Amino acid sequence: MNRSKSDALHHEALSHLVGGVNSPVRAFKSVHGNPIYFEKASGAHVTDVDGNVLVDFVQSWGPLIHGHSHPQIIEAVHEKMLNGTSFGAPHLGEIELAKRVKQRFDHMDKVRFVSSGTEAVMSAVRLARGYTGRDMLVKFEGCYHGHVDALMVSSGSGLATFGIASSPGIPQDTVATTLICPLDDLEAVEYLFKEHGAEIAAVVIEPLPANNGLLVQRPEFLKGLRALCDAHGALLIFDEVISGFRFKEGSYGDLCGVVPDLTALGKVIGGGLPVGAYGARHEIMEQLSPLGPVYQAGTLSGNPLAMAAGATTLDLLDSGAYDHMEALGALLEEKMEAVLEKHGHPMRMVRMESLFWFSPGNGQPAVRADQIAKDAAGLYADVHRALLDRGYMLAPSAYEIGFLSTSHDTSHILGLVAAMDDALSEMELTS
Ligand SMILES: Cc1ncc(COP(=O)(O)O)c(C=O)c1O
Repeated sequence: MNRSKSDALHHEALSHLVGGVNSPVRAFKSVHGNPIYFEKASGAHVTDVDGNVLVDFVQSWGPLIHGHSHPQIIEAVHEKMLNGTSFGAPHLGEIELAKRVKQRFDHMDKVRFVSSGTEAVMSAVRLARGYTGRDMLVKFEGCYHGHVDALMVSSGSGLATFGIASSPGIPQDTVATTLICPLDDLEAVEYLFKEHGAEIAAVVIEPLPANNGLLVQRPEFLKGLRALCDAHGALLIFDEVISGFRFKEGSYGDLCGVVPDLTALGKVIGGGLPVGAYGARHEIMEQLSPLGPVYQAGTLSGNPLAMAAGATTLDLLDSGAYDHMEALGALLEEKMEAVLEKHGHPMRMVRMESLFWFSPGNGQPAVRADQIAKDAAGLYADVHRALLDRGYMLAPSAYEIGFLSTSHDTSHILGLVAAMDDALSEMELTS
C-alpha cells in the first residue's frame, strides 16, 4: 500500500506539531510506523490522502457508534450550525440531550455537560470531594480516566500503595491523596478503607476497563466496591466514557446490577463532536455551582452542534442497533478465535458487545493490568502492520481496544478475519 503522501505530511507536521500529532497514541510509535493521514470517511470506511480505503475499527476511539458521517447526524449538525455555532447561553438542545442521557442512567437526577471525557472525570472528582468534604481517592491500576492530574498515577507491584505521578509536571502533592489498587482485588480495597476509610472521598473506576486492554470485571467485584463505599460514606464514581451507551441494557454498571453515585460519560454522547458529561442524584449535583459551592464552568459546554450530534446518535441507538452490533461481535469472536487457534497464535479475542481486544497469550484473558503478557506490544505490532496492508485499520497500540459500529456489516467482519488468516499464514512462512 502506497502511503507516500501520508509520510510526507507527517514529515511536515513534525516541524509544527509535537511528534506530528495532537494526541500521543496517534503517532503509531508502538506499532513502529508513521501515522496515516485521513482525507475523508464514511460509514465503516476511511480514505487516506494516498487514496487507500481502509475498513476502520477505531472509529475515532469510540464516539462513532454509527460510523463516520452518518447522514442523520450530519444533517442534524448542519441544521443547527445554520443558527449559530456557539451561544454561551442556554438552549433547547441541552435539555434534549440531558433527557436522553437520564433515560439510560436513571441514578442521574441532573446532568452537567462539558467538552471532553477528561473534563467530565476531573469535575466528577472535584464534586465528590466537595460533597464529602474529604480528599482521598481510590483508583485502579490499568484504568485511564483522561489526563486528570490526580488520576495520572501508577502503582508499585503488590498490595495497594500510594500513587506516584506517572507524568512529570504533576506535583507530588496532587497525587499524594490518590491510592492505587489492582483491579479485581477487593481485599486490597478493603485494606485501604480500613486504613483511610474516613478520608476517602471516592472510588473511581472504569467498571469495564478498556484502556489497558479490555479487562472485564466481575459483577461481584463492583458490588463489593459499592458496599465498601456505602459502609464508609465514600462515593462510587463510574467512568463510562468508553462503555457508556455500548450496552442495550444501559451501562456496564446496569449489566452488573451496580448503581454508582456519579457517572462520567463522553465519546458516544457527543456523536463525534467534543462532549463529556457527569451526573448524579439531586443532593450531589446541587453542590455544583450555580446552586452550590463546587465550581466548574466551560465556554463551550453544552455546545449546540455537539448536543445535536449527541441527541441524534442516541436516538439512532434503538434495540435493532444493539442487536446488529451484538451479532457482529459474536461473529467476530467466533471466527477470529478459530483463526487464532488454527495458527496457534498466542493471542485471544476478548469481547463485550461492540468492544473487542486481542489479549496476548493463550490462557485466560487478563482481568488485571499486571496479568497482561509483557510481549503484548511486539506481538501486536506485526499483526497491526499486516492488517493495515490488507486494508483493515485497528488501533495503533496493543493496549487499545477495537470498536464496532452500526455501520459495520458481516462483510467487514469476515474480511477482517480472512485478512488475519492470510497475515498469520504469511508470518509463518517468513519466520
Ligand atoms: C474511560 C475514559 N475516561 C476518560 C477518557 C478521557 O476522555 P477524553 O479523551 O475525551 O478527554 C477516556 C479517553 O479515552 C477514557 O477512555
